[in-house]
Order: sequence, then structure tokens, then C-alpha cells
Amino acid sequence: MIHVLFVCLGNICRSPTAEGVFRHKVERAGLSEVIAVDSAGTAAWHIGKAPDARTCAVARQRGYDLSALRARQAVADDFLRFDWVLAMDASNLAHLQALRPAEARVEPQLFLPLADELTLSEVPDPYYGGAQGFEQVLDVIEIASDALLQRIQSALR
Ligand code: 4NP
Repeated sequence: MIHVLFVCLGNICRSPTAEGVFRHKVERAGLSEVIAVDSAGTAAWHIGKAPDARTCAVARQRGYDLSALRARQAVADDFLRFDWVLAMDASNLAHLQALRPAEARVEPQLFLPLADELTLSEVPDPYYGGAQGFEQVLDVIEIASDALLQRIQSALR
């Protein structure tokens, strides 16, 4: 089993979006028994909460149901359980690098640079912005999710 963890700040906007989008693509590829997907936040503020209503609405319009997801905080043990630890922005990445135990094999990395066609390297935080920000989050996450799935599939061959 390959374990993939997406990480943002609150675990209510960007990383649950990535979890839902990537899981959808994994299911469509028939790889649900091979690839496990989760998400977490670096902050504790929203532990136990469902994703932001704006995030859920934009995701639903594109066919992704995020309603069952609940926020949790990233922990050091995640580095011993996950094969990919993917940060939404550079601040999340710095938090993860500080959390990573010395004996971990996995290194956290930014998610978007997996997709060559993206010029953005960070998923912009949509929390305090307008509706367009949530659409952009979906746009870049869909593209980077395709790239991640290709990377994992070619490693499986
Ligand atoms: P996320 O967005 O990191 O994509 O889940 C945020 C959610 C909540 C807050 C900031 C960003 N907040 O300040 O509560």
C-alpha cells in the first residue's frame, strides 16, 4: 500500500480538497486497494471540523464530495506512516520539516511542483479571499493530482 498525505494550515480548505480530488482519481484508476489518501493541518484550530462550506460547494460542483472529511493535525508519526507528505505552501513545508523525526525516510515536499505545466509552486490560501480563490485551489489541485497519480503509477510498473 502507498500512503499519501496532503497538508495545509487548517485542514479545512486546501488539503481536504487535495484528499478528495486525489482519492477520486485513484478510484477512477482502479487503485483504491493500492493507494491510501489522507490529509492534515499544521494548526490545531479546526480539529474535528468538516471542510469549509465554500470549499465543499466548489468541490461538489466538480463532482467531489468532501462532506465526510474531518480535520486533524499533522503529527510526527505521520512521517513513519506515509510515503508521500505533500505541503500546499512553503509555510506548511517549513512546519513539516520541523515536525519530521530524524529517523523518518520520507521528506516532505511541495505538491504543485510535481506538475511540470504549473507555474505556481504553492496553493494560495483561499480562507480570507473570495470565491475565485476556491476555484483556483481546485484548478491547480486537479492538475497536480494527475501528475502525482502518473508518478505513482509509473513507479508501480
Ligand atoms: P487551509 O485554509 O489551510 O487551506 O485549510 C485555512 C483555514 C483556516 C485558516 C487559515 C487557512 N484560519 O486562519 O483559521
